[in-house]
Amino acid sequence: PLSMTDTVAGLRDEVQSWREAGYTVGFVPTMGALHAGHISLVRTALQRADRVVASVFVNPAQFAPGEDFETYPRTLEEDAAKLAEAGCHLLYAPTVREMYPTGFASAVHVDGPAFGLESQTRPHFFGGVATVVTKLLNQVRPDTAVFGEKDYQQLLVIRRLVTDLDLGVEIVAGETLREGDGLAMSSRNAYLSAEERGRAGQLNLILKDLAQEAASGKPLETSLLHARTRAEEVFDAVDYIEIRNAHTLQAIETETLEEPARVLAAVRVGKTRLIDNMAV
Ligand code: PAJ
Repeated sequence: PLSMTDTVAGLRDEVQSWREAGYTVGFVPTMGALHAGHISLVRTALQRADRVVASVFVNPAQFAPGEDFETYPRTLEEDAAKLAEAGCHLLYAPTVREMYPTGFASAVHVDGPAFGLESQTRPHFFGGVATVVTKLLNQVRPDTAVFGEKDYQQLLVIRRLVTDLDLGVEIVAGETLREGDGLAMSSRNAYLSAEERGRAGQLNLILKDLAQEAASGKPLETSLLHARTRAEEVFDAVDYIEIRNAHTLQAIETETLEEPARVLAAVRVGKTRLIDNMAV
């Protein structure tokens, strides 16, 4: 059965009782509005640990003014039902006050993989993510934490953070779950109108073709130009479409591909921002 708590103290009590029983602990942080992608991360955690905590917290620190913090979907009851069905043991859903009490004045800053891409359009974003993930990992103190490849740059930022700050947790990557047309599952897909949902399915196809062209030895600039032109015809704005080193996210200096790489993109459909990425 799924337990629930909204306090750090309640979380620590439960995890401590597991530790006393000798159990290992897995952790899946989320912002809720859970879909099958999130649940697949919970299943991965359950395969690797005896007890699993999932958190649901819409983190104000990673939203800029004018972004969708207020309207972000909040579906805690449905989330709890899905977590219970998956076999998750504890749902931790703190309030903003619990996470950021009056007087809160600290932040975690990551460079390296946080440079560029998402940071170009959302400069506040990885500071907010790094701060809340550091807090969550310190609150839960899991053996293993699972993050999705859907947010590939975030995954690399978390790996960097955990190494640099000696957080002592194993970070495991979960594959991206997709809809029938290949659209990466996302809580924000709920914002899409029927017409926008139709267009959204193009993003993964453009990235797939880009990855194939790059892998086949075509000049990267030619392939990128082709992908960007296609995306500009379909979407309302293209924040970026890039090919980067798969481990560092640094720019690739060679004309054709000679290193492990990842294609990454962010586009806008109406008011919704979509991100996706793939291995080359
Ligand atoms: P959220 O967007 O809710 O995502 C929670 C986790 O689910 C992340 O690790 C994300 O990469 C993963 N995920 C999202 N869509 C997925 C999909 N289609 N397939 C597989 N995994 C998927 O990412 C965040 O929340 C926040 O930034 C957080 C890390 C919780 C910090 O606030």
